[in-house]
Amino acid sequence: MKVLIKNLKDHVEKEVEISGWLYNLRSSGKIAFLQLRDGSGFVQGVASPTDVSKEEWEEIEKSGQESSVIVKGKVVEHPKKPGVFELQVNSYKLLSNSIDYPIAKKEHGPDFLMENRHLWLRSNKQWAILRIRDAVIESIGKFLHEEGFVKTDSPIFTPNACEGTTTLFGVPYFDLGEAYLSQSGQLYLEASIMSVGRCYDFGPVFRAEKSKTKRHLTEFWMMDAEGAFIEHDENLKIQEELVKYITKYCLENCKEELEIMERDITPLEKMISQDFTRYTYDEAIKKLNELGSDIKHGEDLGNDDEGLLTKDSEVPVFIEKWPKAIKPFYMKINPEDETQVLNDDLIGIEGAGELIGGSQREDDYELLKSRIEKDNLSLDDFKWYLDLRKYGSVPHSGFGIGLERMVRWIAGVAHIRECIPFPRTISRLRP
Ligand code: 4AD
Ligand code: MG
Repeated sequence: MKVLIKNLKDHVEKEVEISGWLYNLRSSGKIAFLQLRDGSGFVQGVASPTDVSKEEWEEIEKSGQESSVIVKGKVVEHPKKPGVFELQVNSYKLLSNSIDYPIAKKEHGPDFLMENRHLWLRSNKQWAILRIRDAVIESIGKFLHEEGFVKTDSPIFTPNACEGTTTLFGVPYFDLGEAYLSQSGQLYLEASIMSVGRCYDFGPVFRAEKSKTKRHLTEFWMMDAEGAFIEHDENLKIQEELVKYITKYCLENCKEELEIMERDITPLEKMISQDFTRYTYDEAIKKLNELGSDIKHGEDLGNDDEGLLTKDSEVPVFIEKWPKAIKPFYMKINPEDETQVLNDDLIGIEGAGELIGGSQREDDYELLKSRIEKDNLSLDDFKWYLDLRKYGSVPHSGFGIGLERMVRWIAGVAHIRECIPFPRTISRLRP
């Protein structure tokens, strides 16, 4: 019977068939230990020349690392380690041999591994990251649907910028001139909420960022959520609940993966039962100056500032109400202080950096129009966006969460390039 390795526990003392890859083989000539993986998990097979045919034994002995195989045998529970299973192999089929697999057991440098990303994905840590990434995606969808959000999605070819114009990727677009790869689907969601109330998109976004940090990709996945009649405070509440929901989901569903990553899960467990900290931008700057940073009021927070602000924190930190001068045109002016906007950045703990950016949106037609003009953006481009303030405008808010930033933090990965199957950075387009 064909079974997945993750289901072996339901087949103890039974004959099963496993299709997968041989990720390691040790043989003394009298007994062979076959480390098998099938995508769902890992198991050790034990074979001896007396249990398989002569031809099969020869095939085992000539099988290279990462050969594809079909193995049959009896499932036994490890006598000393309950919950650990082994396969007593009695049939072996080498589907396709793998000779001189380039990624050996020894240490390789990151460049070599990145060049071989198409193979590196098979390694156990990369396997674990891919699965944690999937769990983060799954949990985001679950949370949002429970909260009444509808997935509407946004286009990737767009006629203009959404975030800063300095990080736009342009592509020729037939007779219509230049199109830009989306930096965030937010503006389109602001139209869709007027139909469905609450909605979200989840897809690749692009930033021509020259940043070479451990947290920047040029192509990454973002989930933008947007809701009508949601104001600033509720927006923050939803973000906090979402981050806790994702974390809880991963702790419950990715135990094996987090173990493979050697992730100390204590900080994650501590975080989910506490309220997140909220600083206004003004408070954050004051605190940073006290802690020794030379950041000045009106400047964006750097990497070090984010680290400093969260260094002793057990929970992520919101920084809200930034100076409007350093934030995009669409953010709503704080009615209590016209120099500020009603926005937030959520800074993660353990060096995770910014996980979420969000804001209440300007819903007043005249105010928004003047800010578009002030930023020297084309009114023509934003006519449709202004229409949303002309026909039944409502207070509304939303935010965007960077998928790979979240995966990097939950899985405890040093560099974001491992948090997406095929990373795109300023210096990498292959494979
Ligand atoms: O803060 P950002 O730029 O916000 C927006 O784009 C809003 N329009 C979202 C919205 O309100 N719907 O980006 C959102 C998040 C960041 O907090 C960060 O997690 C991630 O996207 N991010 C990146 N992740 C990887 N590489 C990059 N270059 C990133 N830039 C932003
Ligand atoms: Mg941001």
